[in-house]
Amino acid sequence: MKVGVVGTGHVGLPTAATLAHVGHEVMATDADGDKIDLLHRGGMPFFEPGLEELVRAGVEGGRLRFTADPPGALREAQVAFLCVGTPPRASGEANLIAVEQSADLVGRHATGPTVVVEKSTVPAGTAARISEILARHRSDGQLSVVCNPEFLREGNAVEDSLRPDRILVGSDSDEALAVMRELYAPLVGEGTTWIETDLQTAELAKHASNAFLALKVSFANALARIAEAAGADVEAVTEVMGADPRIGKAHLSAGLGYGGSCFPKDLLAFERLTSRLGYDFPLLREIARINQEAVDAAFRKVEEVLWNLEGKRVALLGLAFKPGTDDIRYAPALGLADQLLEAGAAVAGYDPQAGPNAKAELPGLEVIDDPYVALSGADAAVVCTEWDEIKALDLGRVREVMRLPIVVDGRNMFDSAKMAEHGFTYLPTGRPPVRP
Ligand code: UDX
Repeated sequence: MKVGVVGTGHVGLPTAATLAHVGHEVMATDADGDKIDLLHRGGMPFFEPGLEELVRAGVEGGRLRFTADPPGALREAQVAFLCVGTPPRASGEANLIAVEQSADLVGRHATGPTVVVEKSTVPAGTAARISEILARHRSDGQLSVVCNPEFLREGNAVEDSLRPDRILVGSDSDEALAVMRELYAPLVGEGTTWIETDLQTAELAKHASNAFLALKVSFANALARIAEAAGADVEAVTEVMGADPRIGKAHLSAGLGYGGSCFPKDLLAFERLTSRLGYDFPLLREIARINQEAVDAAFRKVEEVLWNLEGKRVALLGLAFKPGTDDIRYAPALGLADQLLEAGAAVAGYDPQAGPNAKAELPGLEVIDDPYVALSGADAAVVCTEWDEIKALDLGRVREVMRLPIVVDGRNMFDSAKMAEHGFTYLPTGRPPVRP
């Protein structure tokens, strides 16, 4: 099938490359001409494991093309994916201008029957708006709207695209649903649940899924605060909970909290949406509050152990919002860095991928691409992202280069007994501290 993709970000690019991989003819476009130039030159606009190879194979096989001319990507598309950004406004509501503009592009330029797929995370009701825009341009009933939310985890986007656990397609048009079935047929494997709903239900299901996952993370983090006060071990608590298949252990790891381009923004947008719909849902606000509390708790641990922060040096191990990505949007590490800098500390950060992005976002942060150099002379280190490179650090060497052997573990990556052996003051999250 001929597929147009508007937006080559964390959602659009894996979607385009995957659809090309399974045999469709995909043309992807982006309002940012520099991004298209970069893709033409074989570069990648962001880091995502396995994506570069998948894109290259698509381009070399001739089934994946990029164009800086949006009409060119849409003219012949049987299916047009809208994968544009929906950043939060100051009010917390999603800014949908890019969705409106890309729907307008499809309306103006698609020539044949086209299924317009809303892939970006948007508040319920957006599909109806897209339909209105399309109807302004064409009244022949040939343009239909489908909500097909992405369930891609950054760092696992290729895997999640190629082997989806579920594909959700919402539409009020039987013809559009048939087109989507044909489009996705090669990707529906044994482990894939295919779900068809109406438009509003699909939009709501995406919000509900992300909010529930964020709830699990915040539940674990609230438990961490309680475990710290009670002298219990949150890891063991969540292991017990997770062993109950009704709960499940995924997304129950206590730590520095969630970040990224989805949970923080989607939760806010969902909260705004529910109140607009007349339902007060304070639980959503609580999830966000507990998430902030996780960063605050790590800051307080550093402050408690170092006393005054002026003139002290703190090393942050990991800057990305999670491992496997160079994405620093809403990264807890940067929130923490901000607080530390504000309190007068010098802050050095190491990350295997996200260093340049972090530096651009927070110029006061010293970004160092060697973890041992970042740790040199540090009065304390905080583990912020659970990268393998951090897990593999030589603890003896870490102990040697630091000025004071103090590690606050915001991701519970290290073994308390080993940290004690190396003489660290070790302050994990929701687990008993180790003090020599
Ligand atoms: C999420 C959803 O998982 C995906 O289905 C959706 O479509 C997009 O949003 P993503 O933001 O890439 O994906 O990351 P995810 O793996 O869900 O993690 C989100 C955040 O929660 C990260 O900051 C992660 O570090 C944090 N997290 C996750 C925890 O703190 N504890 C956990 O147990 C799990």
